Amino acid sequence: LFGQPWVFVRGVPAMKFLPSEGPPEVAFAGRSNVGKSSLINALLGQKGLARTSNTPGRTQELNFFVPDGFGGDNPALPPLALVDMPGYGYARAPKEKVDEWTELVFDYLRGRATLKRVFVLIDARHGIKANDEEVLKLLDKAAMSYQIVLTKIDKIKPFGIPKLIEATEEKIRKRPAAFPGILATSSEKRAGLDDLQEALGRLAEY
Ligand code: GTP
Ligand code: MG
Repeated sequence: LFGQPWVFVRGVPAMKFLPSEGPPEVAFAGRSNVGKSSLINALLGQKGLARTSNTPGRTQELNFFVPDGFGGDNPALPPLALVDMPGYGYARAPKEKVDEWTELVFDYLRGRATLKRVFVLIDARHGIKANDEEVLKLLDKAAMSYQIVLTKIDKIKPFGIPKLIEATEEKIRKRPAAFPGILATSSEKRAGLDDLQEALGRLAEY
């Protein structure tokens, strides 16, 4: 699954432009700037596939990625699609725009039949914030399976990581739709990517 090139298939600015339901989808959600697009690039080993930036509010559509070679002459469905999402929370963009993206993200997370799992990315330095809680609540209510992924662990002291994982686990233990296990990652240092790839491999259809 990950030993091959992936391609960008489309950017979706509103629910009515979503592709018809096809392959299993896995979405990357999280606050603006948490590192969603960077993590997708690191996972796929393709720098620059998903566009990243220092400025919160970089990703502005639901961006779909699949392994190369599907569509065109090949009628088969890809085994998996990854969906990079706009961030929620502060973004350097007009409020109406941010409200639009947030609505799109929430609608998609609530009502997509082929969405198999949501990776909710949490900055290891900041932990779960109020707007993250809101998203977790929405996912619980929709009975949409999600797993917490800590990002940017290169920014915290290694000896603090086990405690952080434990504390985060404790916070989500009673949440009904939370998939057990917290993944700790760094796109920059390429840490924790194997576990994430393994989780994705189990969600793919061959
Ligand atoms: P939006 O699309 O704006 O919501 O942001 P995003 O969540 O897609 O974040 P993006 O991947 O664009 O990364 C935001 C910033 O964080 C960039 O400056 C990245 O270089 C930085 N970043 C991402 N991952 C890591 C990481 O693992 N470690 C460190 N130190 N920085 C990272
Ligand atoms: Mg992004």
